Amino acid sequence: MKKIIALFCLGLSFVSSAQIPSIIPIPSQAVYPTGKFSLPTSISISGPYDAQLKVGYATLVGKLKSATGRSVTLKSSGTASIQLQIVNNAKLGAEGYELQVNAKGVAIKANKYAGLFYGIQTLLQLLPKEIESKTVVKGVQWAIPYAQITDTPRFAWRGQMFDVARHFFSKEDVKKFIDDMVEYKYNLLHFHLTDDEGWRIEIKSYPNLTKKGAYNVKKEGRFTTFSKPEPNEPRTYGGFYTQEDIKELVKYGQERFVNIVPEIDVPGHSMAAVASYPELSCTPGADKYEVISGEPFIDWSHGHPEALQDNTLCPANEKVYTFLDKVMGEVASLFPYEYIHMGGDECPKNYWDKNPEILALRAREGLKNSQEVQAYFVRRLEKIITSKGKRMLGWDEILEGGGLPKGTAVMSWRGIAGGVEAAKLGHEVVMTPNNNVYVDLMQGDKAIEPPVYKTVRLADSYAFNPVPAGVDAKLVKGGQANMWSEQLFNYRHLQYMMWPRALAISESLWSPNENKNWDNFIGRVEDHMARFDVADKKYAPSMYEAIVNVSKNAKGELFVELKNEISGLQIHYSFDNSYPDHHYPTATGLVAVPKDAELMRIVSYRGNEMKGRTMNISRVELEKRAK
Ligand code: ACM
Repeated sequence: MKKIIALFCLGLSFVSSAQIPSIIPIPSQAVYPTGKFSLPTSISISGPYDAQLKVGYATLVGKLKSATGRSVTLKSSGTASIQLQIVNNAKLGAEGYELQVNAKGVAIKANKYAGLFYGIQTLLQLLPKEIESKTVVKGVQWAIPYAQITDTPRFAWRGQMFDVARHFFSKEDVKKFIDDMVEYKYNLLHFHLTDDEGWRIEIKSYPNLTKKGAYNVKKEGRFTTFSKPEPNEPRTYGGFYTQEDIKELVKYGQERFVNIVPEIDVPGHSMAAVASYPELSCTPGADKYEVISGEPFIDWSHGHPEALQDNTLCPANEKVYTFLDKVMGEVASLFPYEYIHMGGDECPKNYWDKNPEILALRAREGLKNSQEVQAYFVRRLEKIITSKGKRMLGWDEILEGGGLPKGTAVMSWRGIAGGVEAAKLGHEVVMTPNNNVYVDLMQGDKAIEPPVYKTVRLADSYAFNPVPAGVDAKLVKGGQANMWSEQLFNYRHLQYMMWPRALAISESLWSPNENKNWDNFIGRVEDHMARFDVADKKYAPSMYEAIVNVSKNAKGELFVELKNEISGLQIHYSFDNSYPDHHYPTATGLVAVPKDAELMRIVSYRGNEMKGRTMNISRVELEKRAK
């Protein structure tokens, strides 16, 4: 008898998750018959030899050898424990694959090498979690559950953005980032290479961009609250990628079916460029500007950016267009993918509103306001980018001021509205709404998370649907997780911010919407956390920690409502300063805060097992939240 779990009607029927392999992103169609294929003591792999699959083979062989300690050999043909095959099956498209496990072994079929590569990722997830071990693990039953999987992606653009400008990450870190991406079938790295805090790519025509623009003053603590650097503090913190490094990264991505989209963020976010070449500004005194080191220099109190120091390239300055022509020319020659991202976000206009050269440009070109000035700049830049044989892509602010050239793609980050508007105008769209996919933001309560602007919980990431109602699905290329690095000082913390939310986003981008199921997903997330433990990969336990809502009644008494993000947990609390455990009161409904309590401690349990961390919230903070 087959235990048939047809995952395409997953919402209707569910069998105990212990029986269903934990694959993320969940495949389009999967059936798991009863039984397991035991790996032989000598494991053989057969398939087409092609440089495109070199990394796929190396990953599979490497992991099998390291974790099982068994011999693993590659054969060009004949029977083998794991057989890979290129086929011609229209259903599978360019990235899909079929994976079958039965008594004879494993067979992976695809039209293209990318499909075989993704089939290998799924096969690794079918193996016991110890496959992630870098050393031999004894006592494991090295068996693979029988499976019949047919899997194709929902979107062609399954991206992750990596901001290496706010904090520099080494070439080796970027490779690790790509390795982490492909395990969950992401295929595009959006490389945020320039910002106020650093210019990270060598441009031979403008050497100061990296000589000066790649370095600032090392500060630790909370970015944007740092003290202003003193003139004598060393400006040695940062780094950049040479053009040879970039070529190496592009090749590294290609070998893993990852395209790289470079972002040169202009005309705002450009202090590193302005500090390197002050003539790109038209604000007097720009020659005194320095690369930002995390000190505050933009006023956000009005709901839009107002620069305290002008961090923009001057749209009325012809030198700026000469600069962009050279920069985009060099960038275009390094990155083979069809798009260049030009940023366009959060450009302060307060200097532009008063600048005589920009006012003269407005009069000459009939531009009503500074939004139209930015639109003028965007149109000129589009001509430059297309002259290099590339298509332009920008954040959704590039819609402002009108007249966005046809063929420009829009990345919607201030929610989905920009994407909806862009699609109505016929532009292609990549959805990156910050409330769902900004994986630099806190993933739980601010009482416990390292502070960032706001919270995006795992459930918010899982709710991400790149095609909202009313949008022409053909114009939505896909979406991505965005990893900004203001508060990221090292790769371990990057991993903490990435996981598990990037699991949720991968499923939103690869799997059919109707296959998604939150409770089932969480079961799989927990299995993948166990894999991360074996792989020594950091991740956040925030999904176990309570959602806290505070209110006050007419008499001024405080009440706290504690909710779970995931099911099957009990929340316990104390007001007596002691650490609560599963013997403490269980939170249900509104919990009254005793008049004299100074501190509330909150913790989650599953039965008698503590999950997540203990949260501590002072009375002062509770009072603040009740307002
Ligand atoms: C952005 O987050 N400023 C695109």
